[in-house]
Amino acid sequence: MTVSTTVSQTALLVELEPVVARNLDRHLSLAKEWFPHEYVPWSEGRTFDGPLGGEAWSPTDSTIPDVARTALIVNLLTEDNLPSYHHEIATLFGRDGAWGTWVHRWTAEEGRHGVAIRDYLTVSRAVDPVALERARMTHMSEGYTNAHGDEVLHSLAYVSFQELATRISHRNTGKATGDPTCEALLARVAADENLHMVFYRNLLAAAFELAPSQAMRAVADVVADFQMPGSGIDGFARKSVAIALAGIYDLRQHRDEVLQPVLRQWDVFNVTGLNADGEAAREQLAAQLEDLDRAASRFEEKRDARAARLAQR
Ligand SMILES: [Fe+2]
Ligand SMILES: [Fe+2]
Repeated sequence: MTVSTTVSQTALLVELEPVVARNLDRHLSLAKEWFPHEYVPWSEGRTFDGPLGGEAWSPTDSTIPDVARTALIVNLLTEDNLPSYHHEIATLFGRDGAWGTWVHRWTAEEGRHGVAIRDYLTVSRAVDPVALERARMTHMSEGYTNAHGDEVLHSLAYVSFQELATRISHRNTGKATGDPTCEALLARVAADENLHMVFYRNLLAAAFELAPSQAMRAVADVVADFQMPGSGIDGFARKSVAIALAGIYDLRQHRDEVLQPVLRQWDVFNVTGLNADGEAAREQLAAQLEDLDRAASRFEEKRDARAARLAQR
């Protein structure tokens, strides 16, 4: 194959299928079975108001800091939109063969995350259950659309970064709660997200062998317009600023702990056999990383100045 050949979307799916099969086996050998109910402190629960006549939720029911509550809500609503994600990947990757087996297995694992986090939040009374349910209805009613829905490599690049972003976000949210029970639950969820990341990252690594310029183009495009899957959540901009100010997920983490480790694994700056567009994509990627570095530093300076101001009061 010459470097200027464009591999069709169908050919990419066919060529990558054996890689999917191998990585599916790898995934199944590494994934550990776990049970959401074991992570929830059920005996701390109390009946709520409503048909059963219990006690209404109050903000004082939990000592979890406000920003951790915000992050928990964002993380749960993000997990909640699973039917839309399933639709997107089932449509793109298909429901047959190794691709289909992966799509369903991944969906089943992700389904556990929303169940576990919701059970924990309800039992521990960490967040307002009425507001949470209304937010879920609004968010799921909007649905989620993959920005690169008909492009295999763009979608693989996106999910490689997104699974790692979700891992970091769950981990840091757990720490921010100051609640060892919640931290253990979110660490467990984060371990799943990490395996998902590795699966997709390995697929795109194979795509770099198969169609290096198309893979580079996909990565550059996805880095340039990356949005968290929960960006459609009501009030997401305000919530994500609070989450960034708390250091749960900020631009520096996005660049240094999500983008960079994955890009290093693909060794993007040493890939050979690129055509003109592949080279252009790599240059755009490098510029994008520099821009992100500057923006992250600006944010950190502002955050430090704000912290100093608050400390003076
Ligand atoms: Fe998840
Ligand atoms: Fe995941």
